[in-house]
Amino acid sequence: MKILGTGSSVPQYELTNDMLSEMMDTSDEWIRTRTGIRSRRILTTETITDLAVDAAKKCITQSNIPTSEIDYILCHIIIPDMTTPSLASIINKELGCTCPTLDLNAACTGFIYALDVADSLIKAGKAKKVLVVCAEKPTHFVDWNKRETCVLFGDAAGAVLVGQGGDECYFKLSTHPTDALTCKRIATPSPFYHDKEEVYPYLEMRGRDVFRLAVHNSFEDIKSVVNEAGVTFSDVKYYLLHQANVRILEAIRNELNLQEECFPHNIECRGNTSSASIPLLMDEMNQSNKFSEGDTLVLSAFGAGFTSGACLLKW
Ligand code: UT7
Repeated sequence: MKILGTGSSVPQYELTNDMLSEMMDTSDEWIRTRTGIRSRRILTTETITDLAVDAAKKCITQSNIPTSEIDYILCHIIIPDMTTPSLASIINKELGCTCPTLDLNAACTGFIYALDVADSLIKAGKAKKVLVVCAEKPTHFVDWNKRETCVLFGDAAGAVLVGQGGDECYFKLSTHPTDALTCKRIATPSPFYHDKEEVYPYLEMRGRDVFRLAVHNSFEDIKSVVNEAGVTFSDVKYYLLHQANVRILEAIRNELNLQEECFPHNIECRGNTSSASIPLLMDEMNQSNKFSEGDTLVLSAFGAGFTSGACLLKW
């Protein structure tokens, strides 16, 4: 599988730590030192569907490949604007395609899962080119009265077009059940069913548990794909990790004993954008011409489930 193009889209509105500290009992100092975040983009006038379509269109333009060649559209979104049709179906319509479409949900690990499905479709001969779009609006499911979670997130969409060719990709995916990170949904009113107790419909997170799980699982996943590919940690040009906390990135980097430039990040101005964080970072780096043909990349993400996954691929 080979990456043929990238695209991304973020909302116009920028919410800084200082602005947050006027809304609640927090500070730029606390947020920066605990997470690395300085500001994030937040949906105000746009919808997440707008961002997803924009990222998809930019990706197709950047790849210079006609939409008629897209064989499959895979989207990852935790809470879409529409219950049905799927976000992938909406993007399909906006691009003027008629290919199969499917939405997935593997929480913040979604991009790695979607790439694994895309790689499998390509290997099975069912598709030659697959458009993968990850779009997330976590700012719509965090509790804005809870400083522990709402300061961490931003909204964004990232897209990649993948196709046949290139070297073998290596994946490691797993799920270790835990309730350290959950978000419940209120039942839609029905004469036959109602929630038995009051539902708190916002993200609930035991931050320290998630931090430990993230570092442990990401490190194990990275080791696994690097070993399977028969390369060394220093053969990898960039480790593109889910942008959840710069301290998580640092902990993994220290375990691997690698230089800072191997672990690029944009969390400082984007916040945690869930499954969109890796394709967003990848597109921003691509736009800055950071990748060269043949670079070895390792992608690694983790999130609710507790899902985690890594992928080693060549640019
Ligand atoms: O993509 C989803 C995956 N999610 C993650 O990867 C998140 C992983 N976890 C983390 O990144 C960190 O655990 C957090 C950034 C969420 C929290 O950092 P921490 O160092 O684990 O802090 P803590 O939760 O232990 O809280 C320390 C203190 C507490 O006060 P006391 O009890 O020590 O008096 C909190 O009440 O910091 C307080 N606190 C805040 N203070 C100012 C919590 N949130 C804030 C805040 N501003 N926004």
